[in-house]
Amino acid sequence: MTLAGVRVLLGVSGGVACYKAVALARGLLKAGAEVQVVMTAGATRFVQPDQFAAITGRPVYADTFTDVHRIVHVEVARQADVAIIAPATTNVIAKFAAGIADDLVSSTFTCLTVPTIVAPAMHTEMWLHPATQAAVDVLRGRGTIITGPGVGALAGGDEGPGRLEDEDVLLDAVHRAVGRPTIAEPHPLSGRRVLVTAGGTRERLDPVRYLSNRSTGKMGYAVAAVAAELGAEVELVSAPTALDAPAGVTLTPVESALDMHAAVTSAAPDADVIVKAAAVSDFRPAQVADQKLKKGTFGAGEGGTVVRLVANPDILAELGTRDDLDAVLVGFAAETEDVEAHGRDKLARKNLDLIAINDVSATDAGFGTDTNRVVILGREGFRHEVALTGKREVARVLLDLAAARLRS
Ligand code: C5P
Repeated sequence: MTLAGVRVLLGVSGGVACYKAVALARGLLKAGAEVQVVMTAGATRFVQPDQFAAITGRPVYADTFTDVHRIVHVEVARQADVAIIAPATTNVIAKFAAGIADDLVSSTFTCLTVPTIVAPAMHTEMWLHPATQAAVDVLRGRGTIITGPGVGALAGGDEGPGRLEDEDVLLDAVHRAVGRPTIAEPHPLSGRRVLVTAGGTRERLDPVRYLSNRSTGKMGYAVAAVAAELGAEVELVSAPTALDAPAGVTLTPVESALDMHAAVTSAAPDADVIVKAAAVSDFRPAQVADQKLKKGTFGAGEGGTVVRLVANPDILAELGTRDDLDAVLVGFAAETEDVEAHGRDKLARKNLDLIAINDVSATDAGFGTDTNRVVILGREGFRHEVALTGKREVARVLLDLAAARLRS
C-alpha cells in the first residue's frame, strides 16, 4: 500500500487512451490511494463515468454545472494531494497553459495547488506541433510534471511518439510527486551508463586564439539531461559551452578534439550507450604558438600567411571499429545539402547503430536553436522523421530508440 492515505485527483480527457485511465485508477486504488475522477465531455464518449464510479466508489464529475451550489471544481481540487491528467489531449494541455477554464477538468486544474502530472496522449503530429510543445514548455516552466508520451503504436495503425505512458510509469510519477518510494518498472536506461559528447571543440592557434564552430551544445545537453531523468548514469564530455551542467550528470570539460578523444576513449568501455552530439573540429593548426601571435606574423597586404592544418582523429568512426565495445553508438550529422544521403553514408562509414541527421542550413533547427528537426536512421534500415520540436523531445525519441537496441 505504497500510496496509502494519498488522495489522487484523476482527470481524464477525451482520447482513445481513455480506457487505460480505468486501469490507472485501478492501479492507484490497489496502491492504497483514494481516487476522485473528473472527466471532460469528450472522455465520457469513450468511457462511461459509471465505469470509474463503480471502481473508485465515488461519484464522477464531468459537468461544472451538476451541483452548482457545491462548486465542485474548487472542492475536488482542495481535496487532492496530487493530480494526474491521463490521457491529456492537446486541447486540455493548451487550455491549462492558457488558463482557460471552460469545463470541469480545466476549471479544476486552474484551482490546483498540489503537484500535478500531465500525461499527454495524441497523434505524433499533434504532439510535435509547435503549439503543443509551446504549451508543454509553459506548463513545465510552472512546475507541472510532464510524463510521456511514450513511443509506440498509436490509433489507426500509426507509430511514433504520442502513446500514453504505461500504467507503471504513470504510477511511478504519482509516487514520486508525493515523495513515496516507487514501485514501477524502471525505464530500460535506468542504471545504464550513457556517455554523451556536446559542444564545439576549440583548436588553439596561440594562447588566446582558436578555431571553432557554431555549436552551442544545446542538443547534447538535452540528451544528457533526459538520459539522467530516465535514471541513467550520465557522463557528459563537453567542449566549452555557455550552458550549466544538467542535474545528476557528471561533467567532464574538454577543449580540443584531442582532449575529447582522450576522454571518450577512456570512458567508452564502460558505456552502454554513446551519443556523440559534439561538433568536433575535423582539423587543428599543425603548430600552436607558445606566445600570442603578433600582427606582424601575418604580414601586410593580400598575400597573407598560410596556417597549416592537420586532421583530427574521427572519434566516432574510431569507436565504430573497436570490437571491445558493447555500447549502442549514436551519432549526429549536421548537413547543408543532400542531407539524408550524407547521413546514411556516415551511418555506414562510422559503423553506427543510429544517426540523427539535421539540416543546419535551416534557421529553426540545428545550431543554437532550442528546437530541432531530424531524420533518424538505424543500422537495420529503420527510418523515423521527427518534425520540428524541442531538443528535449528529440533527445527522448533518440534515447528510447537507443534503449531498444541495448545489448544484454
Ligand atoms: O563526419 P561528421 O563530423 O559529419 O560526423 C558527425 C558525427 O561524428 C557526430 O556525431 C560527431 O560528434 C562525430 N565526430 C567525431 N569526431 C570527429 C568528427 C565527428 O566523433 N573528429
